[in-house]
Amino acid sequence: MNILLIGSGGREHALAWKIKQSPVCSQLFIAPGNAGTAQAGTNIPIAVEDFENLMGCCLTNKIDLVVIGPEVPLVKGLRDYLENAKLNTLIVGPGKEGAQLEGSKDFSKQFMNRNGIPTAKAKTFTSNELADSMRYVENLSAPIVLKADGLAAGKGVVIAQSVEEAKVVLKEMLEEKKFGEASAKVLIEEFLDGIELSVFVLTDGKDYVLLPEAKDYKRIGDHDTGPNTGGMGAVSPVAFADAAFMKKIEERIIKPTINGLSRENILYKGFIFFGLINVKGEPYVIEYNARMGDPETQAVMPRIKNDLVELLVATARGELAGKTISINPDCAVAVCMVSGGYPGDYAKGKIILGLSSLSDDGSPMSNGTRSLVFHAGTKKSGNDILTDGGRVLAVTGMGANLEEARRAAYEAVSQLAWDGVYFRKDIGLDLLGLTPGPSPEGEG
Ligand code: AMP
Ligand code: GLY
Repeated sequence: MNILLIGSGGREHALAWKIKQSPVCSQLFIAPGNAGTAQAGTNIPIAVEDFENLMGCCLTNKIDLVVIGPEVPLVKGLRDYLENAKLNTLIVGPGKEGAQLEGSKDFSKQFMNRNGIPTAKAKTFTSNELADSMRYVENLSAPIVLKADGLAAGKGVVIAQSVEEAKVVLKEMLEEKKFGEASAKVLIEEFLDGIELSVFVLTDGKDYVLLPEAKDYKRIGDHDTGPNTGGMGAVSPVAFADAAFMKKIEERIIKPTINGLSRENILYKGFIFFGLINVKGEPYVIEYNARMGDPETQAVMPRIKNDLVELLVATARGELAGKTISINPDCAVAVCMVSGGYPGDYAKGKIILGLSSLSDDGSPMSNGTRSLVFHAGTKKSGNDILTDGGRVLAVTGMGANLEEARRAAYEAVSQLAWDGVYFRKDIGLDLLGLTPGPSPEGEG
């Protein structure tokens, strides 16, 4: 089977690494990919929004399966484009309508409300309702959550610490269109206080398999300080996501979501990422994403024992009924190594040192630790690998428990360097005191 994977982040390197292990995969292409995906397959220099050339690539390379990694091509309708062109290709990733779960926070909030899915209460205001929105926040108490409706590369959510701050942000978003059309509508949302959890399924629109859960570390600084980023690290499994909590998530959130999509005639074949928050033992949805998480994928993929391609094909064909997932009980800790300055301005083109000393297949190193290095913003230049983005590498350590996985990850991180490198030192530390619950196994 010839497979085309769309995207160029750490998520895509982890997916490529896993796809490549499948006996069914004959050729793997990644568009546009990075220096890491080039180790798993062939990079094709086509941008994720260049639908015409992506279609051409499918024809030229006789692609049997397309896997769409990032949200932008999903929300812009890559699936619909390929389907309208009558390409006889299997596709993993929802169409434009299903991707609205991520592409419009107003759409997803209404969807959750229609389907009785627990989420924060919210009210939406449009640009010509600025005065109403100002009056509305005056009656709220801080913190107040403000969300741009559309895609804003992870920057569209502000947690205002006062009514005054909320008003300034509303003006910026609604009147000054800080995020362009994405903030032509803004949701004012109730603040939920709790621990976040990322839960993933692969669904064909009727059935689903539950993938290992993960916890993401979004802030740039240790102990969750400083500005938000795309994600600075991830841990899987998550101790507080025990069988009882996961059951609540499946019954109250996952099943109603998939049934809701089906009832509303929204065909959905792909990943759904449930961004959840645990408020005193009760799960609420903070957001949906129509794709896998980054860097969660880099902690989740190494824990899946199944042939991923078999699951992806079953998803695309609508044949997930009866499929089960087999999860490696090991713990995975992914630590993102980023360019100094990220999530603000940063330099590119720095030579990454130490890559050749690490195994890239997760096999034990001389000191017995197991780790994997996934590339994100990297590119090859001659014999060197250079930094080429904010998040540069995600190093995943594996171990029988969280301590061991942390040690493996940080041991590998300590062997890598470039001018200006930065990473968080505390990934997983907050979970160390918690006792692991039984990991959920199997779902059909
Ligand atoms: P989102 O882009 O929707 O994932 O939001 C980014 C981050 O903002 C989330 O990961 C949470 O940390 C935070 N957040 C979003 N909505 C809420 C909420 N209703 N209550 C508390 N925190 C929130
Ligand atoms: N790590 C969060 C995300 O992928 O959106």
